[in-house]
Amino acid sequence: MVEERSPSASVRLDARPSLSGDGARLYADVDSSDGDRLSTGVSELDRVLGGGMMPGSLVLLGGEPGIGKSTLLLQAAARVAESERRVLYCSGEESPHQIRARGDRLGIGELPLYLLAETCVERVLEAVTRLSPGLVIIDSIQTMFSLKLESAPGTIGQVREAATQLLFTAKGRNVPVLIVGHVTKEGNLAGPKVLEHIVDTVLYFEGGRHHAHRVVRAVKNRFGAVSELGVFRMTETGLEAVPNPSQLFLSERKTDVAGSAVLCSVEGSRPILVEVQALVGTGAYGNAQRVTSGIDRQRLSLLLTVLEKRAGLPLTGEDVFLNVPGGILVTEPAADLAVIAAVASSIRNQPVLPRVAVFGEVGLAGEIRSVTQPGIRVTEAAQMGFTRCVIPAGNLAPHVTARGCELCGVSTVAEALEGLFS
Ligand code: TYD
Ligand code: MG
Repeated sequence: MVEERSPSASVRLDARPSLSGDGARLYADVDSSDGDRLSTGVSELDRVLGGGMMPGSLVLLGGEPGIGKSTLLLQAAARVAESERRVLYCSGEESPHQIRARGDRLGIGELPLYLLAETCVERVLEAVTRLSPGLVIIDSIQTMFSLKLESAPGTIGQVREAATQLLFTAKGRNVPVLIVGHVTKEGNLAGPKVLEHIVDTVLYFEGGRHHAHRVVRAVKNRFGAVSELGVFRMTETGLEAVPNPSQLFLSERKTDVAGSAVLCSVEGSRPILVEVQALVGTGAYGNAQRVTSGIDRQRLSLLLTVLEKRAGLPLTGEDVFLNVPGGILVTEPAADLAVIAAVASSIRNQPVLPRVAVFGEVGLAGEIRSVTQPGIRVTEAAQMGFTRCVIPAGNLAPHVTARGCELCGVSTVAEALEGLFS
């Protein structure tokens, strides 16, 4: 339970600015201003945002400490400032001096970029009024507090109040606002869940900071495809966009080793090939372990049971370890067939045929079910030099083709195993 004091001032209608300014307007009179999205200048960030920032949108960027939130936003701030728009970067965590030191590493020169070390949201809004910037960045929402409430910064009430005030400013002035949100140990945004409802777009840094590359995913987007991915590499001069993630995720793959399969996954509108690795070994004293990284553990348990019952592979009492190298999280059901392929390959101690990629959902009866967007999946596989794709038979269609890549439609797990190994 969290104590929340009600504000003492009586509620007046003019106390809150209105979102649309002058009351109701005719639908036809409202201009659809999708054309003037603001490019952040960072291509992969624009991609997750759905092609840049909508004017007046409030975007939340979450991620664990040290993953690169401040770095990414400072880079974006600099790029926007380069296009001669004023940018206001408010930090409640670092002094302008510290931000400048980071900026020097990133090679940021003389720009109309204004730094403000401030934690009082009213004073931040004052600066916004004074400077009228083209972009506002708040690092982080947990450090902000409003004079209207008495509680400490970071409490639920304060975070919500600060976010709401920023929302009204964004909509009222039609300026995009980017805010940083910390995540808890469990991986949720610290602060109220309502934060996710207040903002237009929620982006998350995914995976750990121990990988050289970083993945930013849109988990909510009012102005674009959700689940869109941006892939970056952390270098000594900041985050660098990775234009071809498939190449990155497959670069260190060994093809002649049992227990490895290549999945054609789709994140948002982007096809990405990732490796799925499995290692099966005899467990000690009957308490078999099922350890996964990058894939849901319960999904693995389900698929192992399907393999055992429908394809007759002996898995009881075996330890099964599953890994998606590179720290990417695969949640779509199309990954099922790749998991099955990797596990079967490890049990048989036989590598999957080289240059074979797979995707497909697996049902409890051992049937292979069709998935979305088969066309772009096989095209990506063909582009990366794969010569066969094992795909759900239901996905075979005249328009699903890829040059130089044989499509092998399967409808049961047994058929799939055939297509993968012979
Ligand atoms: P930071 O952006 O401050 O993370 P956050 O704001 O999410 O807490 O820093 C991310 C990490 O990246 C930090 O440990 C140092 C490292 N880093 C680089 O490797 N190269 C760089 O150019 C910069 C600026 C940071
Ligand atoms: Mg930071």
